[in-house]
Amino acid sequence: MSAQLQYTEEVAKATAPIYEKLSKQYEQEQWESLAPYIYRINQLKAEKNAVILAHNYMTPDIFYGVGDIVGDSLMLAQEAAKTKANIIVQCGVHFMAETAKILCPEKKVLMPDMKAGCSLSESITGADVRALKEKHPGIPVVTYVNTSADVKAESDVCCTSSNALKIVNELGKQGHDTVIMTPDKFLAQNVAAETDVKVIFWEGTCMVHERFTPQDIIDMRKSYDDIVVLAHPECPPEVMAEADYAGSTAQMDKFIKEKQPKRAMLMTECSMSDNIAAANPNVEMIGTCQMCPHMKRITLPKILHCLETESPEVEIDPEIASRARKAVDKMLELS
Ligand code: 13P
Ligand code: SF4
Repeated sequence: MSAQLQYTEEVAKATAPIYEKLSKQYEQEQWESLAPYIYRINQLKAEKNAVILAHNYMTPDIFYGVGDIVGDSLMLAQEAAKTKANIIVQCGVHFMAETAKILCPEKKVLMPDMKAGCSLSESITGADVRALKEKHPGIPVVTYVNTSADVKAESDVCCTSSNALKIVNELGKQGHDTVIMTPDKFLAQNVAAETDVKVIFWEGTCMVHERFTPQDIIDMRKSYDDIVVLAHPECPPEVMAEADYAGSTAQMDKFIKEKQPKRAMLMTECSMSDNIAAANPNVEMIGTCQMCPHMKRITLPKILHCLETESPEVEIDPEIASRARKAVDKMLELS
């Protein structure tokens, strides 16, 4: 370990308030290897006027240690649009970094690991959207933010899991009786169940949320009849039907903060439960969870390297970025 990455008294003191929150998540020995990275990353952020956007699926060391703006896809996009920082480091997956670059073309947007993809984003291309539009002329295309800039550029409006229903209903109010929703078929089916607008969907799925089953919930309720189950709308409709509450990662976080249930189970990515547990010591987080291998590519050493070298940088063809921006702006306007 370099001299700068030692667990010195100064590092221990500066990171003590963070460890106080995370002492259930990390043993002292483990913390001593993480804290020097947290300390150095925070120093570099200040020196370079950089801001770290951290998605709710980041591990607690990243989420609480170095994240400046934390939240769901919608919140990260909204805050990226407002930031005064020169550099944005996206601790999440590639489509989130692209969204930040679309909204802030003049800023340097860095991604600690360019291979952090998304099964939804990989399920569809711009050419696929063009073919859908040819097959269904005049029908607006609502595209989940979990897509490439290319796909957004071919779409009329973007949505996230927290505003998908609202956006579809707004289009309904504008006189559209049918919309195309890409690429998540489960999100589309879950929205379709709650709106009068007809939804045509694409066959994409999230490799994490598709693995949950209604039986996971039924089994857990046998052991804990007071458990409150929250599900992300990327889960299959049968899972949503068994859950007590459905929402984006930020909406789930808000629900737990406000309701403080005795026990809760989240049908979503594992780090989300760890982060909620750290902030809500009176709520027992139990049950099953699934790991997103893409989100887990982001680590403290990679964030440090990315800030030190100011690379790799996310670039988007300006013409594609400007068309994609129209769809993202339309979403921000409607939500
Ligand atoms: P949220 O917008 O709810 O944070 O979801 C993003 C995501 O990738 C969920 O798998
Ligand atoms: Fe994509 Fe699913 Fe991972 Fe979210 S959890 S980034 S939707 S693969």
